[in-house]
Amino acid sequence: MKRIGIMTTGGDCSGLNTAINRIVRGADMRGWDVIGIIDGTDGFCDNPPRTIELNTETLPLAESRLAGSILHNGNAGAMNFETAATSGKLALFNRRFKRGLASLNLDALILIGGNGSTSLAWAHNDIYKDLQLICIPKTIDMDMPLTDKTLGFDTAVQQLTTFCDQLLLTARSHHRWFIVQAMGRDCGKLALTAGVACGASAILIPEIKFNTDKLAEHILNAPTDYGIIMVSEGITLRGHSGRPADMISRKLTASGIVNRTAFPEHYQRAGDTVATDRILATRFADCALNAIENGETYVMTALQDNECKTVALSDFVDYGDATRDPNIPDLVTANAYVEPDDPLLSVAQNMGIYIGEYK
Ligand code: F6P
Repeated sequence: MKRIGIMTTGGDCSGLNTAINRIVRGADMRGWDVIGIIDGTDGFCDNPPRTIELNTETLPLAESRLAGSILHNGNAGAMNFETAATSGKLALFNRRFKRGLASLNLDALILIGGNGSTSLAWAHNDIYKDLQLICIPKTIDMDMPLTDKTLGFDTAVQQLTTFCDQLLLTARSHHRWFIVQAMGRDCGKLALTAGVACGASAILIPEIKFNTDKLAEHILNAPTDYGIIMVSEGITLRGHSGRPADMISRKLTASGIVNRTAFPEHYQRAGDTVATDRILATRFADCALNAIENGETYVMTALQDNECKTVALSDFVDYGDATRDPNIPDLVTANAYVEPDDPLLSVAQNMGIYIGEYK
């Protein structure tokens, strides 16, 4: 008999509820109790921590396909490692967090988080020394090292593709181009994948340098007088400021290209969870429960070459491209980006999509 906790941290994405539902089902099979922590670390810091008992009825199967998290992810200003560190309250935060953990008497905690939460959990691993810590990677950005897939990515790709499919119809009616700004922070994976899926005419991502004159020439010579130009929110243009889609729009307008901008924003994090994300959520849940059974700790579930396994959090942090936040000097976040040998890059180029100055 074990007592396990689940918490969802960082930005939400579709697939969190499926993961929670499957963890509860697997735990139920084993006769384990499951506690859900409300609002992530913020809920933990309350005295007593904000929690709910999770059982197979708390989150019925019919609702487990819905986006968001029934446990919530905390609001923007909420207590988390990052806000505590930047406001000089880390010691207080750690004390409260430890108190919360001790009061819940958990054998294991499953943290469903992105690269920030996972890197932070490892940076402060001492907090979890009296229980097993198992992380599940989730993010629409796909910027986490050591896993081929993160939970929520496929649904975000579907959402963004659908958004572009709809825009394409009005683009055709008016002989105009839509510059769609994709989320993804400084990783171009979401823009690249949805761009290929919707048949964009150009895809600009932070990992590949581009030339706006060549982009304009490409669009002016395109076989259609309408289409989608996908730009990642992480791109920059020297000497220009503002939203990336607006910067590109101004450049294209100057070349006589009729265009509009579109911002799907958090629509990319919504939407019913697609089948592949539900399968991934189920595999990650199963892997996390097996890891608890096997006595593992400080690990993250990962998909590698279609095999679901656990990887050490120390490897996760070592393996990624480390980014230091100037406000939190002692924190290193592990990141992953579109690699130059990503097969989608050459496929896109072979299909006549302008992807920047690549090869
Ligand atoms: O990390 C997920 C993400 O959706 C990014 O793609 C985006 O830049 C950011 O979160 C948006 O954050 P917020 O929900 O705080 O506006």
